[in-house]
Amino acid sequence: MAGAAAPLLFLLLLLRAASAEPQLRFRPPAEAPVRLFTEPELARYDGQQEGQPIYLAVKGVVFDVTSGKEFYGKGAPYNALVGKDSTRGVAKMSLDPADLTHDTTGLTEEELKSLDDIFNNVYKAKYPIVGYTSRRILNEDGSPNLDFKPEDQPHFSIKDEF
Ligand code: HEM
Repeated sequence: MAGAAAPLLFLLLLLRAASAEPQLRFRPPAEAPVRLFTEPELARYDGQQEGQPIYLAVKGVVFDVTSGKEFYGKGAPYNALVGKDSTRGVAKMSLDPADLTHDTTGLTEEELKSLDDIFNNVYKAKYPIVGYTSRRILNEDGSPNLDFKPEDQPHFSIKDEF
């Protein structure tokens, strides 16, 4: 009797596994999708809450700067830069609140060069990219910006965002 039950049990388990398979089609993707951050979303990652990740955007690219907590955490010297796109401040090496913006209008050649240097040699070199600001991915009317070129995201496809 026991000899016949074992293969039957095996068959039942197999059938169960087969019927459960459709649910497995919705497994999360192996790579986390690239995120789009609105300004209020990005503002949540401003380093004020202990244990929360800290994000900073430069040129519309959102970096996870949590590992640089000594620069960006609560009470740290560059905390003002985080939770937002601080492109202008980074370009001008300024922490003036008026410069803590994505806006690059009127920056000098030298400031733009300095911005690219810091973007490549500090941010891209040190910190993982976790997404892009909506301003970088979308046009002003909310339609996809077809000129959007992701940085360091070889598997990224803009259709994933919409
Ligand atoms: C008295 C003025 C300042 C001094 C002495 C100073 C000093 C430093 C030092 C020593 C580092 C390198 C730390 C390291 O890699 O271990 C650093 C990094 C940095 N500084 Fe300053 N700094 C000054 C002002 C500023 C200002 C006004 C800004 C405005 C944006 C700024 C932005 C940065 C940034 C973005 C980094 C890179 C942080 C990182 O690696 O994530 N600094 N600073």
